[in-house]
Amino acid sequence: MLRVMVLVSGGGTNLQAIIDAVASGTITNTELVAVLSNNKTVKSLERARNAGIPAISVSPKDFESRAEFNEALLAKVDEYQPDLVVLAGFLVAIPEAMVHKYNGRIINIHPSLIPSFCGVGYYGLKVHEKALERGVKVTGATVHFVNEGMDEGPIVAQKAVAVEDDDTPEILQRRVMEQAEWILLPQAIDDIANGRIAVVDGKVKRLK
Ligand code: GAR
Repeated sequence: MLRVMVLVSGGGTNLQAIIDAVASGTITNTELVAVLSNNKTVKSLERARNAGIPAISVSPKDFESRAEFNEALLAKVDEYQPDLVVLAGFLVAIPEAMVHKYNGRIINIHPSLIPSFCGVGYYGLKVHEKALERGVKVTGATVHFVNEGMDEGPIVAQKAVAVEDDDTPEILQRRVMEQAEWILLPQAIDDIANGRIAVVDGKVKRLK
């Protein structure tokens, strides 16, 4: 069984999609060992508790420096010995020490077709605001492995979503979640849990 730990910052609809997919058998060979948030009060932790998954928080506000927070975050992740760390709307930069220690074992969902609308400053609703400002007709979501760069690791999966003329950032965000994110992220976890993909020369390949 793949031991999966999910890191979240907000509402946790992607977390819910993962919880539901494990419960329904859409994701197999996977155990959700913990959900961690940088924010004590978010709905995500409630979703985890409702599903009987340990729900923990490590908040930067409780530490004197970023370095101390980073250390505590890594220590907490280590405690659960995950095989895979899933960033499901985790809006905190992953400490370099953690990226190195969990190299090839951290995935992130991003609400655009990378390399469009990604990198520093592109997170959550802002991504959709920028896509609408630019007037793109197609957007989507991307699951990728996490490396030292921001949204730069090997791409696991992408799914395109149409932009409609009257979209607001909120409407587009919801469509991208429904048509792409909540499908892609569980699929990626299932693929990893069942050994269907591998990173070869910095690119994700599907094994036959
Ligand atoms: C999702 O749209 C996710 O793709 C995005 O935050 C949202 C979290 O929603 N992540 C990023 O922007 C990462 N750069 P959720 O808490 O309802 O899953």
